[in-house]
Amino acid sequence: MKQYLTINDIDDLSAWVKEGIELKKNPKQFKHLGQDKTIGLLFFNNSLRTRLSTQKAAINLGMDVMVMNFGSEGWALEYADGTVMDQGTSEHIKEATQVISQYCDIIAIRAFAGLEDKEKDEAEEVLNGFKKYASVPIVNMESSVGHPLQALADAITLGEQHKGDRPKVVLSWAPHPKALPHAVANSFIQMMQKQEADFVITHPKGYELDPNIVKDSKIETDQEKALEGADFVYVKNWSNYKDYGKVTDQDPNWTMTLKKLGNAKLMHCLPVRRNVVVADEVLDSEQSLVIEQANNRTYSAQLVLKKILENL
Ligand code: CP
Repeated sequence: MKQYLTINDIDDLSAWVKEGIELKKNPKQFKHLGQDKTIGLLFFNNSLRTRLSTQKAAINLGMDVMVMNFGSEGWALEYADGTVMDQGTSEHIKEATQVISQYCDIIAIRAFAGLEDKEKDEAEEVLNGFKKYASVPIVNMESSVGHPLQALADAITLGEQHKGDRPKVVLSWAPHPKALPHAVANSFIQMMQKQEADFVITHPKGYELDPNIVKDSKIETDQEKALEGADFVYVKNWSNYKDYGKVTDQDPNWTMTLKKLGNAKLMHCLPVRRNVVVADEVLDSEQSLVIEQANNRTYSAQLVLKKILENL
């Protein structure tokens, strides 16, 4: 594999899930693969899980790891070609990326959506800028529109937890006081479209996600109806997509409670705002898979890095 930018870079999700579950049994077995190889993790935004799990994955593979909080420590980057750089930006993406490519064998990037300009966010200027000028593989650690490492970890979690066929999986919007990106929901939807499952998205009217991502996935705006008979409920807030980046609904009736969850397992990517997004009673119950999902972030990242290292 040459890069991991979206969940569509996975050729066979079912095979990857099986491989991820096997990798978890003996995480150090491919330690030779990363010997004398360096990964650079560049963060334009905050992180707990992505930062630590990707480092752990690289360490398990024998890699050296360099981490930079680019957003606060790096020079402000210019992305446009031909710009007279006499304003706020100090370094062009062309030089920055070529320089980092000399130091690293793989570059991983986290750069969230700004949520002010839909067109700019969808152009993925940071991720695509690195992709354009890097001479080494690029890994997406959450970009404006996708979080494919999270979605792969979620697929591994579903693969471990569900033993029968065709589970019912519901992606349920939840309220949140801040405007959050669409990336986690987008990649989860794209991942579920590759699964043998009854998949339903539920959200208040007006909170429709990008139709190019949702495609023909089922939408049910009655949350109670959507949750009927669910095996897994993935709870996630996202800001309004049509009224781009705005918080137009904070209805607490959408908060996930044990009554709503029924017998289903709870999934959430974390961090989660307790008693706003999900009630304490759910997060503290045995129905919650959130800690296991976070654990699987290591094996998701390790699987991706392993496949890239095998191709270097
Ligand atoms: N789920 C996730 O990506 O967590 P962090 O933002 O803490 O990395």
